[in-house]
Amino acid sequence: MSRILVAYATMAGSTEEVAQAVGEEIASSGAQVDVLPISEDKDLESYDGVVVGGPMIMGWHREAMRFLRKNRDAFQRIPLAVFVMAMSLTQTSETGVEGVPVYLDEDLPKPPANEERLNFKERYARLESYLRPVIKATRPAKPVSIGVFGGRLEYGRLKWWAVLFVMLVIQAPAGDRRNWEAIRTWAAGLPAMMQTQSPKAGE
Ligand SMILES: Cc1cc2nc3c(=O)[nH]c(=O)nc-3n(C[C@H](O)[C@H](O)[C@H](O)COP(=O)(O)O)c2cc1C
Repeated sequence: MSRILVAYATMAGSTEEVAQAVGEEIASSGAQVDVLPISEDKDLESYDGVVVGGPMIMGWHREAMRFLRKNRDAFQRIPLAVFVMAMSLTQTSETGVEGVPVYLDEDLPKPPANEERLNFKERYARLESYLRPVIKATRPAKPVSIGVFGGRLEYGRLKWWAVLFVMLVIQAPAGDRRNWEAIRTWAAGLPAMMQTQSPKAGE
């Protein structure tokens, strides 16, 4: 039986629930799954696959990014999948970034006002600008897939500076935009994707 780690970072708590759902789907394939906050110390070598999830918080959550960089060497051997929670995404025709397949929650992207000339917010919220730093963090290893999903935004849970940033840059209305069907569909496909990418697959 394979062992899979789902490690998550969160600011206001909603990504933890997503990580639990991802873990449940993977476990239904027969794998043994640990769902843990990213801050907990883990020995990655005891896992056959790792999923790392976190929200966009002025760039992908710092702790999630740090975790990828810190374990860069391990990800040369252990298959990695990533999920990113977001409230704002500019619609483009991209289906991958740097050769990494992206699974997109179709309800999330919004078309730019003028496709010829993106404004600051639209450029900031392109798939490529969100995901390029994530992919760079594990180079030369690449995630088998990156899922990008709508998140949850509750102004009442945030500090004043966070409210200010979200109002000025993200300009997303409060609410829960988590698309559980999309999240679970993506997660259910991960065991097969990790199996084919695993260095152990040919054993
Ligand atoms: C300070 C702050 C910055 C954020 N930055 C972005 C961002 O750059 N792009 C985006 O799409 N969403 C952004 N969001 C929305 C969060 O990614 C979204 O609300 C997420 O689901 C929060 O997850 P959590 O509940 O696990 O913290 C931001 C939210 C906050 C509070």
